[in-house]
Amino acid sequence: MEKDSDELAFADYWNHRYVEKEGEDTYDWFRDWEQLGAWFKDHLSRPQANILHLGCGNSTLTADLHALGFTHLTSIDFSDVVIKSMETKYKDLNTVWKVMDVRQMDGLFDDSFDIAIDKATMDSMFHGSMWDPPDDVRENIERYLGEVVRVLVPGGTFLYITYRQPHFLKPLLARKDWNLSVETLPDRQRGVFEYFAYVMKKFDVEEDSEDASEPVTDSGSETGKE
Ligand SMILES: C[S@@+](CC[C@H](N)C(=O)[O-])C[C@H]1O[C@@H](n2cnc3c(N)ncnc32)[C@H](O)[C@@H]1O
Repeated sequence: MEKDSDELAFADYWNHRYVEKEGEDTYDWFRDWEQLGAWFKDHLSRPQANILHLGCGNSTLTADLHALGFTHLTSIDFSDVVIKSMETKYKDLNTVWKVMDVRQMDGLFDDSFDIAIDKATMDSMFHGSMWDPPDDVRENIERYLGEVVRVLVPGGTFLYITYRQPHFLKPLLARKDWNLSVETLPDRQRGVFEYFAYVMKKFDVEEDSEDASEPVTDSGSETGKE
């Protein structure tokens, strides 16, 4: 990201950015579809899945998923500037675009999405030390993850793409509601930054969650395929 600052956690910052870059048709943070498409194809099996794209910005991801046959898409962002422009740009897709804060998704029903996707959105909430995140960071993450758990169907999956490393993120993402695994994304440009996909599968039935003595699994960690 340009900077890790507490400003990034506010809609004003992003509204200004999107107004300033009005001519910028599209921008994909971290990784674009060319780099991620194959990975998504491996992780999304049912075209009829109800998918929630969290903090969509002006990424092409919603349109790319649609082109792949995933048409039940809801894309949200707390920047009304970017949602207005994306809604206009992609009106022919007939997908849902909403101005909404991921920490308070009041307009979305409990247990309603099979898949939730975050690429670089949670990263806006980080500032300060990753070793010991400030209270506001912990609170924002907690509220956000609580909302994601609420809107996912039992057995649903939250996919989070970031460059932030597992030793920092695992403790923040671990919850009794889901199983967490980490994959290192295949890198076509060797020698550059590694990216990670955090895959969180909400437990299907209550007993699963009670039986789960350890919610963080390493079974899928560092499974990047080359
Ligand atoms: C770094 S950009 C990533 C955009 C896009 N996901 C991508 O990969 O290119 C972060 C986006 O998340 C949005 N965002 C940040 N915090 C948010 C929040 N609490 N609720 C909704 N959207 C948020 C910002 O407005 C911005 O569009």
